Amino acid sequence: MRIPRVITVMNQKGGVGKTTTTLNVGASLAHLGKRVLLIDLDPQANLTHGLSMLAKDLSESVYELLLNPHVVASNLIQSTPWPGLDIVPSHIDLSGAEIELVPVMGRETRLARALAPVRDRYDYVFIDCLPSLSLLTVNAMVAANEALVPLQAHPFALEGLGKLFEVVGMLREALNPDLRVSAVLVTLFDSRTNVNRETLKRLQGDPRLAPHLLGTLVRNNIKIAESQKDGVPVLHYDAACAGAKAYLRVAEELLEMERSGCLASEAAKLLEKRERAEGKPAHREAADDDAPARTRAKRASASKPEAPAEEPAPAPAEASVAAQAGRAIHEALHAAPPAAPEPVPAPHAEAEASNRFPHAPESAAPPESEVEAGKVEAEEERTEPVAGPLRAPAERIGTRSDASLRPRLHAVPYHGTRPVRK
Ligand SMILES: Nc1ncnc2c1ncn2[C@@H]1O[C@H](COP(=O)(O)OP(=O)(O)OP(=O)(O)O)[C@@H](O)[C@H]1O
Ligand SMILES: [Mg+2]
Repeated sequence: MRIPRVITVMNQKGGVGKTTTTLNVGASLAHLGKRVLLIDLDPQANLTHGLSMLAKDLSESVYELLLNPHVVASNLIQSTPWPGLDIVPSHIDLSGAEIELVPVMGRETRLARALAPVRDRYDYVFIDCLPSLSLLTVNAMVAANEALVPLQAHPFALEGLGKLFEVVGMLREALNPDLRVSAVLVTLFDSRTNVNRETLKRLQGDPRLAPHLLGTLVRNNIKIAESQKDGVPVLHYDAACAGAKAYLRVAEELLEMERSGCLASEAAKLLEKRERAEGKPAHREAADDDAPARTRAKRASASKPEAPAEEPAPAPAEASVAAQAGRAIHEALHAAPPAAPEPVPAPHAEAEASNRFPHAPESAAPPESEVEAGKVEAEEERTEPVAGPLRAPAERIGTRSDASLRPRLHAVPYHGTRPVRK
């Protein structure tokens, strides 16, 4: 008899994409022909709502499964509008289960025992956990044979990960020798932030984590949030968006792990190799659209070779005459030679400069959409340091961040060409 993969989607850190991953990987696997059961083990019931099911419509939920030994799991399973995808919904009542379970005999194994009669009907069972290492999460870890850990590429996320691995290790020794962390998935990734890029490098270089790291990065994609508002998996909301493609590929990676029997990182390499052999577009490029469309178009045109300048370049002799004339005029006016012209900053660099406060958090950097929309240019005008003799001290002091110095800056005469708004 085939043993289904029972995967607990867990991370005690909140808002890292556990529910989003459960819902969309589950829906993607169902789309690829697998039979999938999702179990919402979070009293917030986000997964339940994310599949168009409203708590008020549900007479029974996972709460009964845990606390009422006479309830049969098959009676709680609800089918969804998407073939192959079923769910055991949750309800806010579940928030009381932690306490109610305390005096119950075998409280850690309630979910595992309740699922035993139905799990063989499925290829995949996913359990969406709440953001804590509580008794409900322990139930999920006892019922599962794998843990999938979604995380954001942020330093705090790495700190919590150590604790999570420790708990999984303890649980394996005490209650479930089959349990292992099989996959770590980076979610909500934004390649424009240094903190995301650097943390990803740390993850990839960590010998304990790297073998379990899935190759797909799930980037920030607004369609994912929109699809949840509509109660639809992103694949069925907009199959062409980067979020749908990313989660479909995570599902393919899980299938590849199963096929090859490899750890996640090895399976990712095998999948990439196969995709290349089949002439499929490189995944990373396909999903690289965390930047708005207009920015991508700009990037594409920037990468094209530059069009020749309209005015023909002056002939060498002409150029040297012009240069000599320029030098002569300059020497007549100033004693010092002309300074090298300041390079014209690229739109993004200009935007960054306008936010360059000492030790400014990275989040202060404007999104590219704002740069394009010209909002940042307006900001820059407001924060332009006073030019002329005061330029250097004004830059050192900073501008917008230090309100106490403003009166001093504005009291001095203006020597520049750009106005400073008061
Ligand atoms: N790739 C993404 N792009 C954009 N928004 C996302 C993405 N992934 C998740 N979100 C949004 O981030 C928020 C948190 O996601 P989610 O609810 O899946 O996290 P969680 O870990 O389950 O949270 P909790 O710990 O509260 O259960 C949601 O509003 C979701 O719509
Ligand atoms: Mg959740």
